[in-house]
Amino acid sequence: MKISVVGTGYVGLIQSVGLAEFGFEVVGIDIDETKVKQLNKGKSPLYEEGLEELLKKHVNKNLTFTTSYEPIKDSDVVFLCVGTPQDNEGNADLRFLFSAVEKMKDYLDEKYRVIVIKSTVPVGTNRKVKEFLKGYNVDVVSNPEFLREGIAVYDFFNPERIVLGFEDLSNKKPIEIMETVYKYFKEKNVPFIITNWETSELIKYASNAFLATKISFINELAKLSDKVGADIKTISYAMGLDKRIGDKFLNAGIGYGGSCFHPDEILFVDFGDGLECMTFKELFDKLSKDNKRCVKVLSVNKNLKLDLVNLKLITKRDYSDDLIVLKTSMGREIKITKDHPVVVLSGDKIQVKLAENIKEGDEVILPTGEFGNNDVITIDVLEEIKNTPLIEKTFLNNKNMVLNEFENIRTYLSNKYIHDVKKSGTVKAKDMLPIRSILNKYNYNSNRLFTVRSKSTTIPSKIKIDGDFARLIGYYLAEGWISEDGKKNGAIRKRIGFSFGAHEKEHINDVKNILNKLGIKYIEKIRNGSHSIIISSKLLAYIFEEVLKCGNNCYNKQIPPQIFNSPSDIKWEFLKGILRGDGCIVKLNNNKNLVIEYGTVSKKLANSLLLLLQSLGIVASLKRCYNNKSTTLTYIIRINGLNQVKKIGELFGDKWSNYKKITDRYKRNIKPIGYKKFDNYVSLKVKSVEREYYDGEVYSVETDNNLLISSYGLLIHNCFPKDVKALIKQFENNNIEPILIKATDKVNEEQIKWFFEKIKGYYGNLNGKTFAVLGLAFKPNTDDLRESRAIKLIDMLLDSGAIVKGFDYVEKARENTINMYKLNKSKVFYGYNLYVLDDLYEAVKDVDGIIIATEYDYNKEDWKKIGNLVKEKVIFDGRNVLDVKKVKKLGFKYYGVGRR
Ligand SMILES: NC(=O)c1ccc[n+]([C@@H]2O[C@H](COP(=O)([O-])OP(=O)(O)OC[C@H]3O[C@@H](n4cnc5c(N)ncnc54)[C@H](O)[C@@H]3O)[C@@H](O)[C@H]2O)c1
Repeated sequence: MKISVVGTGYVGLIQSVGLAEFGFEVVGIDIDETKVKQLNKGKSPLYEEGLEELLKKHVNKNLTFTTSYEPIKDSDVVFLCVGTPQDNEGNADLRFLFSAVEKMKDYLDEKYRVIVIKSTVPVGTNRKVKEFLKGYNVDVVSNPEFLREGIAVYDFFNPERIVLGFEDLSNKKPIEIMETVYKYFKEKNVPFIITNWETSELIKYASNAFLATKISFINELAKLSDKVGADIKTISYAMGLDKRIGDKFLNAGIGYGGSCFHPDEILFVDFGDGLECMTFKELFDKLSKDNKRCVKVLSVNKNLKLDLVNLKLITKRDYSDDLIVLKTSMGREIKITKDHPVVVLSGDKIQVKLAENIKEGDEVILPTGEFGNNDVITIDVLEEIKNTPLIEKTFLNNKNMVLNEFENIRTYLSNKYIHDVKKSGTVKAKDMLPIRSILNKYNYNSNRLFTVRSKSTTIPSKIKIDGDFARLIGYYLAEGWISEDGKKNGAIRKRIGFSFGAHEKEHINDVKNILNKLGIKYIEKIRNGSHSIIISSKLLAYIFEEVLKCGNNCYNKQIPPQIFNSPSDIKWEFLKGILRGDGCIVKLNNNKNLVIEYGTVSKKLANSLLLLLQSLGIVASLKRCYNNKSTTLTYIIRINGLNQVKKIGELFGDKWSNYKKITDRYKRNIKPIGYKKFDNYVSLKVKSVEREYYDGEVYSVETDNNLLISSYGLLIHNCFPKDVKALIKQFENNNIEPILIKATDKVNEEQIKWFFEKIKGYYGNLNGKTFAVLGLAFKPNTDDLRESRAIKLIDMLLDSGAIVKGFDYVEKARENTINMYKLNKSKVFYGYNLYVLDDLYEAVKDVDGIIIATEYDYNKEDWKKIGNLVKEKVIFDGRNVLDVKKVKKLGFKYYGVGRR
C-alpha cells in the first residue's frame, strides 16, 4: 500500500515516519522547500525524542519527501496533516487544508483512494471536503490526532484510541483500508472508535476542553489546600483512584499559558501600500470581513529599528477589570490590561515587564529613524477605479493617442459612433482597461480622465507622488475638505477645496502651481479674508478619500500610507504642506525661545504625524486638551530643541525668516527635554501608572516577533496567547455561553500570580535575589516556548529585580529562550539579569532559591550535591514533582502548589 502525507509538521512528520516504520511506502509532501530538503537529508526540523533516528532509518528507502503533489497519483491513502491555525476570529483557518485538497485534485484519476483528514478541524469540515471532491472516486475519513508534543513519537506507537469517522458506516471499503493501515494498533488491542464524521470531529475538541478544565479545577483547589494545610498531591491521588475521575491532568501547578489592548489603541498596519494608522477595533472588524489578506504591522528589527513584521493573530474578548493607563513624558499614553507585557529599558538593554508592575521612572521605548520602501509611488488612476462604479462614468481623452492607436483600440470600443471617438479623442475609460498598456507609451499628463458631470476638470491617468504632490496632500490634510452636493437629476458632485487665509499668498500660489502642473482646473473664492481653491472632480476626490485614505473631515484625517513608503525628501515635502497649512511657530520666554506646534482633532492624524516625524528623527511631544468651549479633544504636537526647531522651521518658507533670527540668538544649544536618545530609538520616562475600570471588549494580537509599535509610536510587546480562548470562541460561534470554559480560563490566569506572590512572601523583597528556574519550555521534552509558564515566571522575577539562572534539559529550548529574549548567542550572560545555563548544577550554584517551572522528574538529580551548591536551601516546586520528604530531610524548605 502506498501512502502520501500532506504537511510534514509535528503531526505529518510523525505520521510519515511512523507509517514508514510499519513498512509502508510513504511520501511526505510539504510546500516548504527548505523543510523538504532538510528532511531528505535525514534532518528533523523539529525536536522530538526518537524522531531523527526513525527518520534517518527510513529516509530515501521507503520514505521520501517532496514539494510535488505527483505522488498522490500512486497513493492508495492520502493523509492531510496541514496546519489549521486560529484565524482572526478564533476559528480554525481552513485555507491550508482546502488549498491542499485543490492541488490534490489534479492527481486524482479513476483509481479509488481514501483521503484522511488528520488536522484538527471544526465540525462539518469532512463533509465540506467530500462535497469539494464530488465526482472523484474517493472516500473521506476523519482521523483526529491526539499526540502530545514532547512525547509525540511515543504517542504515535502507543495511542490510547484510534478515532475514525466515516460518511456512511455501511460502506465497508474505507473502514477496511483504515484498519489495514492501522493493523499494528488493532493487533495491540488499541480501542478503535468507528463513528460518523461529526462525532469524530467533536471528540477532538471535547478532549481538549476537558483537559484544560481539569487543570484549572485542581489548581483552584490547590490554593485552598495551601491555606488550610491540606496536601493537594494526596487529594489528587485519592481522587484519581476513583476510575470515574482518573488521575491524569489532576496535577496542581502554575497553570497553562492574554493580555490585551483597549479597542481604541492604535497600531500601524500595512496592507501592501504603506502604513495605515488603525485602531485595534477597526483592524479586527476589517479582518473579520476579509481575513484572507496578508497583513504586516509596524514593529522593530533586532536592533530596535522600525521594521514591518507579520500579524499572526488578532482576537477580541470581553473584559471587566482595571486597565492600566501608562502615561509617559512627551505626552504618550497607552491603555492595556494589567498583565500586558510592556517593553522597558533597563540600562541599555530591553526587558519585558507586566503593565501592572511598571513603576514611575521606568523607561519605555520610542523607535526612531528611517524605514519603508523609499520608492517614488505613482497612483495609476485607472487601476484604482477599475473595480468601482466610477469606471462606468469615466472617460479618457487623448486625441493624439486615439488617432495613432485607432487600429489597436477600435475593436474594444463600445461606442457606436466610432467617428465621434476619432473626432473628440475621447473613449470610455472602461474600454481601455484590456489595452491600458497602450497608454504607457504616452505621457500620463496627456491621458486625461474625467467624469460626465465635470467634463472641464480632467486629471492625469497616473499621478506621481513627487515632492509637489506630497506637499499638496499636506496642504489637504491641513486646510482641505471634500464636499458633496446633489445636482438636479440626482447625480452627486464632489468638490475638493483648500482654504487659506487670504494673506497666505506663498501657500496659495504653491497649491495653484501644483494643480497647474497637473493640468487640473480650479476656481478661486476670496471672501472675508479667506482664499479658497476649489476643484470639482469626483475622480480626484476618490484619490484623496479612497486611495490616499486621507479622510474627508477634520476628525478622520490621517497621513496616506503611500507617504510612509516614499523617500525621505518626499516626506519632508509632505511635512512642508501640512505644517505650513496648520502648524505655527510660537515664541516663548519673552521671545527668546521658539517651539513649533501643530494641532489637530484627529487622533489618527496625530498618531501618524508623530510617527512620520519619528521616522525622520524628530521627536515631538504631545498634549491633549479641550479647546475653549469645545468638547472635542485636540491633539497638540509640539517640537522643541534648537536643532529640531531649526530643521522644522525651515519648512515654513518665507514665514521662517521672521523667526530665524531668534534661533540665531540662542545662546546655547538647548537640547530637547523629556527623552534620552540612543542610536535607533529614544527612551521616555513613565510619569504615572493609573488604573481605570473598564467593562467592554479588549483586543489581543500576536506578531511574528512578539513586538509592535502601538499608540503614539511606543514599542509594545504583543499579547500573551492562550489556547482556551480559541475554545471559548467555538462555543460562542454556536451561540452557547461557555460558562465552564470561561471560568477555566480565569482560574488559569490567576494561578501564576498566586504562586509568584508565594515566592515574594517568603523573601519580602526579591530585588537582588538569585533564582534557578528549572524548565523553560511549556512542557518537558520540547523546545516550544509558546504559552510557557516558566517564561512568564522569569519575566515576573526579572521585573522584581531578581537575577534568574534558567535551565532546561532540551538544548533547543535553551536556545529558543536566548533568542526570544533577543540576546546574543553566548550562553552565559544576557544583559538584564538573565542567564541561561547548559548544566543544572551550574544553574543552582549560589542561588537564594530554586523554582521548578516545567514538569520534569528532578528527583533523579543529586539533591545532596544541589544542597551544597545553593546559598539558601529553598525550593518552590511549581509542578509538585519533588519527593518532599527526601528534600526536607536534606534540609531544604519546600513550598509546592497546595502541598508543603
Ligand atoms: N502539534 C500538535 O501537538 C498537534 C496535536 C494534535 C493535532 N494537531 C493538529 O494537526 C494539524 C497539523 O499540526 P502541526 O502542529 O503538525 O502543524 P505544523 O504547522 O507543525 O505543520 C503543518 C505543515 O503543513 C505544511 N503545509 C501547509 N500548507 C500545505 C499545503 N497546501 N501542502 C503541503 N503542505 C502544506 C506546512 O509547511 C507545515 O510544514 C493541525 O490541524 C493541528 O491543530 C496538532
